[in-house]
Amino acid sequence: MSSIQPHSGTLINRIVEGQERDELLSKAAQLVAIPINTWAISDLDLIGVGAFSPLKGFMNEKDYLSVVNTMRLSDGTVWSIPITLAVTSNVIEQLSVGQQAALVGEDDGIIYGIIDVDSIYNVDKQHEAVQVFKTADQEHPGVVKLLDRPNTYVGGSIQVLNRPVPEKFNEFYFDPIQTRQLFADKGWKTIVGFQTRNPVHRAHEYIQKAAMEIVDALFLNPLVGETKSDDVPANVRMKSYLALLENYYPADRVHLGVFPAAMRYAGPREAIFHAIVRKNYGCTHFIVGRDHAGVGDYYGTYEAQDLLKTFSADELGITPLYFEHSFFCTKCGNMASSKTCPHGKEDHMTLSGTKVRALLRDGICPPPEFSRPEVAQILIEGMAEASKNYTI
Ligand code: ADX
Repeated sequence: MSSIQPHSGTLINRIVEGQERDELLSKAAQLVAIPINTWAISDLDLIGVGAFSPLKGFMNEKDYLSVVNTMRLSDGTVWSIPITLAVTSNVIEQLSVGQQAALVGEDDGIIYGIIDVDSIYNVDKQHEAVQVFKTADQEHPGVVKLLDRPNTYVGGSIQVLNRPVPEKFNEFYFDPIQTRQLFADKGWKTIVGFQTRNPVHRAHEYIQKAAMEIVDALFLNPLVGETKSDDVPANVRMKSYLALLENYYPADRVHLGVFPAAMRYAGPREAIFHAIVRKNYGCTHFIVGRDHAGVGDYYGTYEAQDLLKTFSADELGITPLYFEHSFFCTKCGNMASSKTCPHGKEDHMTLSGTKVRALLRDGICPPPEFSRPEVAQILIEGMAEASKNYTI
């Protein structure tokens, strides 16, 4: 087993199997049903498998307020993102503290789990937005999602009875217990986790490989849960990761596994959350580059790094590896950052997301100094496909 301790010491397991599951499923059918959307289903499942250890359920009011106001659970453990279950008033009317409720997929009617209701509370979403996202601006994708939810939350420990089945790329879903075992089996002692919601471009590759020079292995852990509509769809990204790994990474020093969580776009606070979760998956190190989990210009380039630095190594329990904004320098003839390159901006190749999307939409590969041609090709095909089915 991987030697790194899960957050707070114990890897949570709330997955119920066998006869107990059968019994709970029959019981759940008689309980008040709380409809849950894809996002809540993914949170439920990630709590269940221990990715969100030490959480055993959706946050009660005490933990919620503590996390929103102090970035700690009520027992003092570092935790930066509220993991909550918002419930509509017509369902709230049927619930009371001390009772159990069934968590039922709103689209498929599947009973995903049971919650022991220990807290029902109203929240101030403006306050939550400002604390978590540092803005209540309705253009911010995380704020939009937050404001869209009912403002009563239900907290309590959960048990998972059914798990969401991925539509594609099943073989890249690993629970923390599996990644921990896998890392141990490979003999890896130090593993760096890499979060991304994007295709891996040269800057990502550069910082990953710089990290790989000092650790045993890379856990490429792209987030594949809900993202905003103009992010590249996860299925297209997965194809691009596979092409990249096949052509440019040593197979025995990289593991690709997805992180099936929703993207919050909470910048600095989400960086802390991302690091802690990767610790639960068994990583010893975690990459934080420029504007981690940021969107638009809501956060400063190194704000996520600065926030992480306010926590002690002991309380985080995973070592962040910080990287400066990286680019290809035409004078140096290689990837670099301001730490390693003496040349000016005019020599640095940087392309905005908008520019890259425009090139890809026109079927043009961005320069190889920006993206590997194998990756660009897959993105072009993905874009062409997307224009038929959905907006990208
Ligand atoms: S994120 O929202 O998932 O963080 P993204 O996929 O863009 O976004 O970034 C993944 C990781 O790479 C983050 O740690 C981010 O800070 C880092 N990163 C992205 N681009 C660069 C870059 N050009 N230079 C340095 N770090 C970068």
